[in-house]
Amino acid sequence: MTTSKTTPAHSTDHIDALRERMIERLWAVNALRSQPVAEAVRAVPRHLFAPDFPLEEVYDAKAVLRTKFDDDGQATSSVSATWIQTLMLERAEIQPGMRVLEIGSGGYNAALIAEVVGPEGRVTSVDIDPGVTGRARTHLAQTTYADRVEVVLGDAEHGYPAGAPYDRIIVTVAATDLPSAWTEQLVEGGRLVLPLGVRGFQRVYAFTHHGQGLLVGETGDHAGFVPMQGLGAPAPTTVPLTDQVALTTDADPVPAPDRLPEVFAEPAHEQCTGVRIGRAEYFGGLQLWLATTLPGFATLSGDAQALGHATMGVHQSPAIWDGTDLAYLVLPQAATDPDRWEFLARGHGPNATELIRRLVEHVRRWDREHRHGPGPRFIANPALPDAPEMIPMRHTRLLALWDQPQSPQLDWDADPDA
Ligand SMILES: C[S@@+](CC[C@H](N)C(=O)[O-])C[C@H]1O[C@@H](n2cnc3c(N)ncnc32)[C@H](O)[C@@H]1O
Repeated sequence: MTTSKTTPAHSTDHIDALRERMIERLWAVNALRSQPVAEAVRAVPRHLFAPDFPLEEVYDAKAVLRTKFDDDGQATSSVSATWIQTLMLERAEIQPGMRVLEIGSGGYNAALIAEVVGPEGRVTSVDIDPGVTGRARTHLAQTTYADRVEVVLGDAEHGYPAGAPYDRIIVTVAATDLPSAWTEQLVEGGRLVLPLGVRGFQRVYAFTHHGQGLLVGETGDHAGFVPMQGLGAPAPTTVPLTDQVALTTDADPVPAPDRLPEVFAEPAHEQCTGVRIGRAEYFGGLQLWLATTLPGFATLSGDAQALGHATMGVHQSPAIWDGTDLAYLVLPQAATDPDRWEFLARGHGPNATELIRRLVEHVRRWDREHRHGPGPRFIANPALPDAPEMIPMRHTRLLALWDQPQSPQLDWDADPDA
């Protein structure tokens, strides 16, 4: 157990009580699932890795402690919220004695990993920002973890070959690809846990390396990590349609991008899907289903006013653009029931009704076959053969197989503070 510094204003008892309360909440929402991870949270003094934040915030399971910003005010580094840190550690299934690579530093998460791997294990943490590596080293030294975590400056697109191989790689920054270096540096049977943005939707994925670069895994939980910098920085293609609306796609090349604004300005066609959701019902599975199975998938961003009805994500709706016609899904309130919402397909262009029909059919299929059923399993390998649903990435190819059980969702309703 590591001893924590206390300030005169805050007694150890007070800090311990806040930490115990946080641990209780993490168990309650299913973000803690094992004793070793719970003991790590109990052992590491989180407040000493975020000395500029109030203790109540530091020990709030949901609080992200943003520590660095770019010139536009966007966060580039943070101490992630504890719930996502513990969840990722649980999904990594770390055992004592393992060699773990953490991508994206800060110190706290690396200290948690050091607790779980124990004295026989090894933790390497790599960050692209010298300010972050400097701060992480300082905090690790102050909390006696300096000897147990090696902090390295570099672009983790290359992993960190000098410390390879690793039993586990935990990525704590949002990736949009699976660089080959990560699989090459991961042992066969090793696990790679990361927040991966697939066609605009970021979730935590947990993959197992089956050898020869084949990754098999599943996803579940939404994540909101800061984007990767350096070689792996996201490079989506965004086409403005109006001042308020833009289409983002990974189609390469984008079919007839210049036509999009004029097509969007044409009168809209609409078709109800007949598929409804309750006010607080989770429909992330539908977003993932559309993003991973709908050829020509894109996202349309804009607010409810600009898109005619409420969007399906934070100002984001699934869309298809084929170079002539545009269709997208929005969420108006069901006319007969103020507590329910109905997915509605809208479209513009000479043959928009065909794209709308395709979108509606896809939503209905999700409702029939996947809404309450198993979620997808993912396989990733650069040598996967062509298929309509293949998601090409720079380093690899990703395919969703909609036939496997979904990992359990967090249950915030079980949170005693809810
Ligand atoms: C959310 S923070 C990491 C949080 C940390 N693991 C903790 O203990 O809470 C994400 C970090 O990823 C780093 N980062 C971004 N792009 C990177 C890259 N290409 N290679 C290594 N680190 C990167 C950022 O500088 C940032 O410090």
